[in-house]
Amino acid sequence: MAKAKVAVLISGRGSNMAALLYAAKAADCPYEIVLVAANDPDAAGLTLAAAEGIPTFGQSHKGLKRVEFDRIIDAQLRASGAQYVALAGYMRLLSAEFVTGWEDRMLNIHPSLLPKYKGLDTHQRAIDAGDSHAGCSVHIVTAELDDGPVLGQTPVAILPGDTQDSLAARILIAEHQLYSRTLADFVTRERHPDWLLNKVREAALALPQADEVVSHGMPCFGIEKGKKFAYFTRDHHGDGIIALLVKTTAPDEQAMLIESDPARYYRPAYFGDNWVGIRLDLGDTDWDHIADRLRASWRDIAPRKLLGLMNIADQF
Ligand code: GAR
Repeated sequence: MAKAKVAVLISGRGSNMAALLYAAKAADCPYEIVLVAANDPDAAGLTLAAAEGIPTFGQSHKGLKRVEFDRIIDAQLRASGAQYVALAGYMRLLSAEFVTGWEDRMLNIHPSLLPKYKGLDTHQRAIDAGDSHAGCSVHIVTAELDDGPVLGQTPVAILPGDTQDSLAARILIAEHQLYSRTLADFVTRERHPDWLLNKVREAALALPQADEVVSHGMPCFGIEKGKKFAYFTRDHHGDGIIALLVKTTAPDEQAMLIESDPARYYRPAYFGDNWVGIRLDLGDTDWDHIADRLRASWRDIAPRKLLGLMNIADQF
């Protein structure tokens, strides 16, 4: 399985970036670092990354509008082939456009037990509040600062006499361990059968009168008391393949799809020529395309009356 390509954005020291980079040297690490970029060309982390043979990019944001600067960074990320972005001490507010462009593909590490202490001075605020524990969190980046679903946390006990510096130093140790592990889990979640089934389920059950049953040992989606329009197959023939089977909607479509991308599409055994298998375990599934195919397959088997309702709904 190809490693997921990750770009890391930093602003200074880059010790979290270094932790990600060193973890990526393990043969079984599911990600690789393809770019380290900074909003300060003198960021110490850039020197470290370059010495490790990682492509780097440093450009000051000074004098540029936020959106303009983010577009420059975005262009670098896209050119690097990055599939994911890891913010590691990247002290910049991000434009909405940038966040949307990396929706569900960008993580951040923050030195507090979120949702506590978003923003700055997290360590001092935890000490001042008399908390027994501070810690760190890795979360998915959304438009709100230090918000977004938390993927992992490590609590760190606050010691008597801790200053913000002594506490920060200990939390940093926890950060270095948490980030790499959480990132590794995140980039592999799209290969887990349960995660993939849930994604399919969400799109399939959103269709009118759709239901889910088990048929031939596979989760399958149909119209209530009617025909089936999709099957989810995992390792069904002992081949390890996770795929979605949907109906084709035009003659020869199966052959055309297979020819267009033989690694992704295949002729499902026992289903004939009116169905096509779409691999979901390649790590680069286009979920909008999957939703479209489910919808087209649903249309293919939907009774006329229901189809009429759907056509009316589509006009609005
Ligand atoms: C880390 O402690 C990180 O959690 C924090 O900046 C430090 C960067 O250190 N990030 C934030 O406060 C983001 N809100 P590093 O450059 O050595 O990784």
